[in-house]
Order: sequence, then C-alpha cells, then structure tokens
Amino acid sequence: MKMFPEGFLWGGAIAANQCEGAWKEGGKGPSVADVAKFADPQSQKDLLDIHKLTDIDDEAIAKALATDDETYYPKRHGIDFYHHYKEDIRLLAGMGFKVFRLSIAWSRIFPHGDEETPNEEGLQFYDDVFDECLKYGMQPLVTMSHYEPPLYLVTKYNGWYNRKLIDFFTHYVDVITKRYQDKVKYWLTFNEIDSIIRHPFMTGGLIESRFDPEQFEEVEYQAMHHQFVASALAVKITHQNIPDAKVGCMLTKVTFYPYTCKPEDVLEEREKMREIYCYSDTQVFGEYPQYLLTKYHNKGYHIVMSEEDLKIMKENPVDFISFSYYSSNCVAKDTSGLDVTTGNTTMAIKNPYLPSSQWGWQIDPIGLRISLIDLYDRYHKPLFVVENGLGAIDTIDENGEIQDDYRIDYLSEHIKQMGYAIHDDGVELMGYTTWAPIDLVSNSSNQMSKRYGFIYVDVDDYGHGSYKRMKKKSYDWYKQVIEHNGDNL
Ligand code: BG6
Repeated sequence: MKMFPEGFLWGGAIAANQCEGAWKEGGKGPSVADVAKFADPQSQKDLLDIHKLTDIDDEAIAKALATDDETYYPKRHGIDFYHHYKEDIRLLAGMGFKVFRLSIAWSRIFPHGDEETPNEEGLQFYDDVFDECLKYGMQPLVTMSHYEPPLYLVTKYNGWYNRKLIDFFTHYVDVITKRYQDKVKYWLTFNEIDSIIRHPFMTGGLIESRFDPEQFEEVEYQAMHHQFVASALAVKITHQNIPDAKVGCMLTKVTFYPYTCKPEDVLEEREKMREIYCYSDTQVFGEYPQYLLTKYHNKGYHIVMSEEDLKIMKENPVDFISFSYYSSNCVAKDTSGLDVTTGNTTMAIKNPYLPSSQWGWQIDPIGLRISLIDLYDRYHKPLFVVENGLGAIDTIDENGEIQDDYRIDYLSEHIKQMGYAIHDDGVELMGYTTWAPIDLVSNSSNQMSKRYGFIYVDVDDYGHGSYKRMKKKSYDWYKQVIEHNGDNL
C-alpha cells in the first residue's frame, strides 16, 4: 500500500552550533552556544533541571570567553562540519536525501549581530554548503535561528528583551534571503520558538540574573513578542526576496496525555497543550490567542506591543508548520507520588505503558500520529516533521561495526505512524527529516555520547578522537526507506 505521496521530502536535520565547530574561524563571532559548558551529568536528576544545564551569568560568560579551551565547550568543536561538510553531504546524499535541514550561524554572517555589513567569508561558506547539497539534488531547508544568537547581542543589548533585536534579525534575514534566493526555497524562522520559556539563554539570549526574578516570566514573554514580530517580518522579507519560497514556524511538539480520566487531569492536559499551541496559533493565525492574552491580563503582565506589531503579525502568517517530535508526556493535577522522567528539555510524568530511551525520554510512535492529526485539524496547513530520532549510546563491536537496531526500531515505528496519518487520517505532510543523520553535540546536555546519527563520528565528550566518519547499520536501512518512499516498512 502506498502511504507516502510522490515527492515526499525525506532527509535529516542538524544545527550549525551543534556540528560546525570552527567557532573562531572565517570571521565568526561567538554565539551563546560557544559558552555552553559541558558538565558530566552525575545522575538523571541533573538532566531533569534544564535551567541548571543551560543558565549562565555574566561572570561565567566572561570566564568562558577568557579561554580558547574547547574541551569543556563542546559546541566550539562540534563534529567539525565546517571542514568536513563535503564528505558529510556526500554521505547524506548516499542515502538518497531529498532535503537537508541545517541552520545558518547568525554570528558567521554578523559576528556581533549589530553590524551593517555582513561577513563575506561566512556568506561564502554557506554558498559552498548549499552548492554541495544542490549538486546531489538535495534541497536545503534552512533554519534562520537555531539556539545561536550572537553573544554580543546578549551582553550588550540584553538579547531578545531588547526591541532592537527585531531590526538586527530582519537585516540578517534580508541579507541571507537575497544572497541565497536561487539556492534555498524552504525556510524556518526560529527553531522551537516555544523553548524561550524553558531555556531563555539559548533561545532568547536572556541572562536571568540581570532581571528581577519576580518579573522574569514577563521578561520572557516580552522577548517572545519581539521574536513573533521578527518571525512575521522574516516571512514577509523572504516572500519579497524569493517569491516561490515556503516559510514555516517550528515547534517543540510534545503529545500530552492526562494521567487518568479524572476531569481534573483532562483539564490539566488541555492547559498544557495550550502552552504549546499558543506559539503556533500566533504564527499561523497571525494573532495572539485569547487564552494567552487572558493569562497576561490575569498575571498583570504588560507586554509592550504596538498596533503596527499586531498588523505585521496578522499580515504575515507562516506557510507551513514544522515541528520536532521525540516523545509524549503525562500530566496530572496532583503529581504527588507519581514517577517522573525527562523529556525534551522538560520534566514529565512517567507513562506506565511506554518504554523510555537511555535519557529517560518516553518512546511513543502513536503520539506522533496524534500530534499530526491535532495540528492538521487545527490549522489546515501543510505540516513538516523536521526532527525525530533516538539519542543513544552506540558501541563499536568486535567487527568494527555499529548495530543500532534500537534506532532502526524507533524510526521505523514513527515512520509507519506518519504513513497512517497521511493515508488514513488525511494529513498533508511535506516531509520528514530525522534528528540527526550524523552524530553531533547534544543540545541540552552538551554530550557527544548521546548519539542520533546514521553516521558515527569518532569524537568523545571532551572533543578527543579522529573525527572519522563511519556508517552505522541504520545507514543502509534509511537508504532503503527513502528508495521505497517509505512503503517497505
Ligand atoms: C531539539 C533541538 O529540541 O532536540 C535540537 O532542536 C536538539 O537542537 C534535539 O539537539 C535533541 O535534543 P538533545 O538535547 O538530545 O540534543
């Protein structure tokens, strides 16, 4: 039975800050990712507290900038994609990729972020990368901002709390969309725009200790408003510069389940879902949902938003909705006595019916189908799964091979559920990019040992290794999936 439409965009996704390395080469300025320090996670408990892993103050930033050490700042070396991109893209093309999602490191183009003139060497680098993709018939899908605001915008301007960031960002968007107008047709504005609440430093460039703790949530929502306006303007600019471009928003999509059928738990689930939908509602419908405005009102938040901002948002909705999906979580009104586990930069109530990954993320392929149905019914716009994958410890066996059947099982079950969503539920799905087709540094824990790829990279948590690439068992498996357009599962 044919589940996937012709022209379905199969591929994989990475982000500049987690793989490029070369943090000071080619005129690049430091970004927030370059001061993210690796700390050996002592226990699962450390991983439960994402703020502990990602928050950073001025003193820690100054300390980080005073050293060139890459050992404890893994995103400074990544997998050295900067120097290996030709080899890496050739390997991805070997699986028959139709699309390759990657981000542009903003601070390669504008090292400080507030310059008028872009850095030509940075622009040239991405020209070369996109040319390499197109050479193999692979469409680039480009994220404009994936947890990598230039650090200077954080320390000098207070990150996205400052309205000026809208101008700096839109100037950057104008430059990149003009430059790559003939090479890139698929764009995403902010990766997981909702994550500003979970890790305000990485997403919003906010240093928490600079603000009154009582008012910090209001600060986050103000920064988020600036990102909404910037995202709408990015849609507008991209359409002006590339009339046939498609621009999407990007969400962290978690499927929430009520822990029991108690109405209190069901209500809790509805409220939790709204915490996710408020981002896509705003970017798809072009206006704040009433429930979010009510929350601001009830909490006494005064988010500064002009009539012009609201007009810009209304006039420039996104063309499609993209999202990451890794797991589902349970929610309950009364959580006492319930087991907790980790989710993607969140804590979750454990679902007794689901297995979990080595990092505690609950594995739920049907949850992906539920997400697809919910999003399509809500928006009636094309969807794109731009991240889905299993972080695991991979070991090389006595024959020098990596038998990652666990990854094959995970991906194969999720792909089947996508197929059902398309074939049985009528969902319009543009494509699927796994996270990540090649091993890279973990976003949340900065570990290299949390591996996602079809391609193994010989680097450890401290940046030691040959950086040699090697195909895992899943490489040939995914190649077959693409070759058969997903109908062989
Ligand atoms: C997504 C992010 O939420 O999750 C990626 O967009 C990230 O940047 C991915 O790498 C997986 O999370 P982690 O923490 O395992 O790297």
